[in-house]
Amino acid sequence: MRIQRAKNNVALLLAAASVIVLPGAAMAQGTATAGIAINDPLTIQKCGGCHQRDSSGMMKRLSYIRTSPEVWDQAIKRMIRLNGLKLTPAELHDIVRYLSNNNGLAPEEMKPGFFDIEHRTTGYQDDYVPNPAIQKTCNNCHSIGRVLSQRRTRDDYEKLVQMHIGLFPGSATTFRPQRAKPVADVNSPAHPNETATGGISMEYPHATNPPSNAKAPGDIALDYLASAQPLMTPEWTAWRAAMHPQKLAGTWLLSGEQPGKGKIYGSVVITPGTTDDQFNTSVTYSYVLSGTTVKAAGKSIVYTGYSWRGRANPPADAASHALTSTAVPSGWREAMMISRDGNTMDGRWFWSSFGELGIDVHLIRAGAEPTVLGTDVSSLQSPSKGTVKIYGGSLPASLKPADIDLGVGVAVTKVISVTPAIATVEVEVAKGLPVGMHDLSIGRVSVKEALAVYDKIAYVEVEPDAQISRLGGVRYPKEYAQFEAVAYAAGPDGKPGTDDDVSLGPVPVRWGLEEFVSTPDDDDVKYVGSLDDSGLFTPNVEGPNPQRKKQANNFGVNNYGDVWVVATYKAPDGGELKAKSYLVVTVPDYTLYDQPEVAQ
Ligand code: HEC
Ligand code: HEC
Repeated sequence: MRIQRAKNNVALLLAAASVIVLPGAAMAQGTATAGIAINDPLTIQKCGGCHQRDSSGMMKRLSYIRTSPEVWDQAIKRMIRLNGLKLTPAELHDIVRYLSNNNGLAPEEMKPGFFDIEHRTTGYQDDYVPNPAIQKTCNNCHSIGRVLSQRRTRDDYEKLVQMHIGLFPGSATTFRPQRAKPVADVNSPAHPNETATGGISMEYPHATNPPSNAKAPGDIALDYLASAQPLMTPEWTAWRAAMHPQKLAGTWLLSGEQPGKGKIYGSVVITPGTTDDQFNTSVTYSYVLSGTTVKAAGKSIVYTGYSWRGRANPPADAASHALTSTAVPSGWREAMMISRDGNTMDGRWFWSSFGELGIDVHLIRAGAEPTVLGTDVSSLQSPSKGTVKIYGGSLPASLKPADIDLGVGVAVTKVISVTPAIATVEVEVAKGLPVGMHDLSIGRVSVKEALAVYDKIAYVEVEPDAQISRLGGVRYPKEYAQFEAVAYAAGPDGKPGTDDDVSLGPVPVRWGLEEFVSTPDDDDVKYVGSLDDSGLFTPNVEGPNPQRKKQANNFGVNNYGDVWVVATYKAPDGGELKAKSYLVVTVPDYTLYDQPEVAQ
C-alpha cells in the first residue's frame, strides 16, 4: 500500500492547482496570527500542495486548528471526497495521529465534548450547550460535541463558516437570517430579499423583531467561539509540555454499568502494541445480575497522550459499523480518557450501529495493594440484614469485618469468603438511618458513594425520560433504545420529587408499551416494534408497511409512531409503582457521521 505514496503525490501536485477554486475565501489566508508549526514529512507531502507551508512551518488552515482525532478524520475525508486527495488507510491513520498529537486538545478541553466520541445517544444537547449563541446556529444541524471539541483562530472560524455556506447553502439562513418583518408589515408587499411565498426562512433565533442593527446569529456565534475556544490556551500549553507516551501495560481492574443489564466487574490486561501509543487488550468481565461472562481481545491507540480509542473483537470487516446489536456484546468500540497520573481511565464501550448500546466503564490499575471497585447491590434498606459482595483486587485472605467500613449504621458482621477479586460479607443495617449515599473503604482504599441507604422506595422512574429509536433492518441499520427503571427514595426532606432524592439503582420491572394518543384511531403501538424484559426496544423494519393503510389513498405507511414505555414495579408490600418514558420511533438515519477508523 505504501509503495503508492510517491505516485499519488505526483498526481496530487498536478491536481492541486486546479482544485483550489472551491470556496475561494476559505483558502485565502494572509493571517499574521501565530499558529502551530507542522513538521511531519507525510502531512507536508500530502497536504502541502494545497495548504502551503511557509519557512516557519506554518501551514494554511492546519496550523490554526486544534481538534479531536474524529474532527481531523472528518475534515480529511472531505479532502478525499471533494478535493481529490489520495491517501492509503495507513497514511490517513498516520496523519490523523500526527495532527491529534501536534494540534490536539488538552484533556480539560476535550471533556465537555467527549460524550459525542463516546456515542452517547441519550440525553439532551441543551445539557451540553455552554452558550445560546452556538445552540441556534451550529447546534441546528449537528451535535454540539463537534463544536466544543475544537480550538481555532477567529480567522479560521470565519473560514469554517464560509465552508459551511459554500457546501450547505441552507446554512446561510441559519447564520444570517433575513430580518423578520415588523408585525404591522405582515400584509405589505414582500421585501425584495424574500420570495412572494415566503420561501426564505423567517425564523430569527433570538427575537421576533430584532433591532435593525442587531448582529446576525452567525456573527454572535463567531464572537463566542473566537473568545471561548481560541487557538492558544493555557490548558494546551501546559498539556503539550506534560504530554508523554503513557506506559499502560499491565493489569487493570474494570467496573462498569450497562443500562438494562446492570453492573459489571472484570479486568483488562494491556500489553504493548507495535508503537508506544498502541496497545493490545485482553478483557474479561461478568454481569452481576446474570452471571454471564464476556471475554474479548482488542487493540487500541492513545491519541494526545490521554485519549484512548479501542476496538475489541472487531468483525472480519473492520470498516463495518454494525458490530452487534445484542444486549450482551461480542465486540465493541472503546472511547476513554486516561487520567493525568495514568492510573485510571473513564469512558464508554459501545456497540450496535449508532453506538446506542454501551457500558459506562471505569478502569483502575491493579497492584499488590488491595483495591476496591464497588458492590453487587446499589442500595441497602434500613433496617435490614443481608449479604453484600465487594469487588476489588488483591483483597487479602486475612480480611476481617473490622477492616471494612460501610459508614455509620452499616455494620459488617462477618466475612463469609474472600478471593483476591471478591469478598462476600454479612451486613447489618441499623434502624432509622438517614437516607443517603455511603462510601466503602477497606484499609486506605475507598469507593465514594458506593451504595445508598434508604427507608423505602418512594417512586420509580424510567430512564432516560425520552428516547428516539429508528426503524431499520432492511437497507438501513436499526437504532435500538434501551430503557431502565430506577428506584428513588425521598431524601432527608422526606418529600419525593425534590433535589435531595436519592437514586437506589435499577430495579426489576414488568415492561410494556402503551399508545401515546396523538391522532384519532392511533395505532402506533401495533407497529413500532417490541420491548423485551430487560427494557431493550427493538424497532420494526423501515419502509412502507402494506398492512398499515392509514391514508385515504390506501398506500401503506411506515411503521413510525410515538408510544409510552411503561414500567411496573412490584413493591415488596404487594403494591405497584408505575413509571413511563416517551419513545419516538422514526425513519432511519440515512447519513451516518461516524469516524470508526480513528480506532485501531
Ligand atoms: C487538493 C487540495 C487539497 C489538499 C491536497 C488538501 N486540502 Fe484541505 N482543504 C482544501 C480546501 C479547498 C479547503 C477549504 C474547503 C473545505 O474546508 O473543505 C480545505 C480545508 C481544510 C481544512 C479546514 C476544514 C475545517 O474544518 O474548517 C482542514 C482541517 C484540511 N483542509 C485538512 C487537510 C489535510 C490534513 C490535508 C492532507 C491530509 C489536506 N487538507 C489536503 C484543499 C485541499
Ligand atoms: C446547515 C447545517 C450546519 C450548520 C448550521 C453548521 N454545520 Fe458544521 N457541519 C455540517 C455538516 C453537514 C458537516 C460535515 C461536512 C462534511 O461532510 O465533511 C459539518 C462539519 C463541521 C465540522 C467538522 C470539520 C470539518 O471540516 O468537516 C465542524 C468542526 C463544524 N461543522 C463546526 C460547526 C460550527 C462551529 C458551526 C456553527 C458556527 C456549524 N458547524 C454549523 C453542517 C452544519
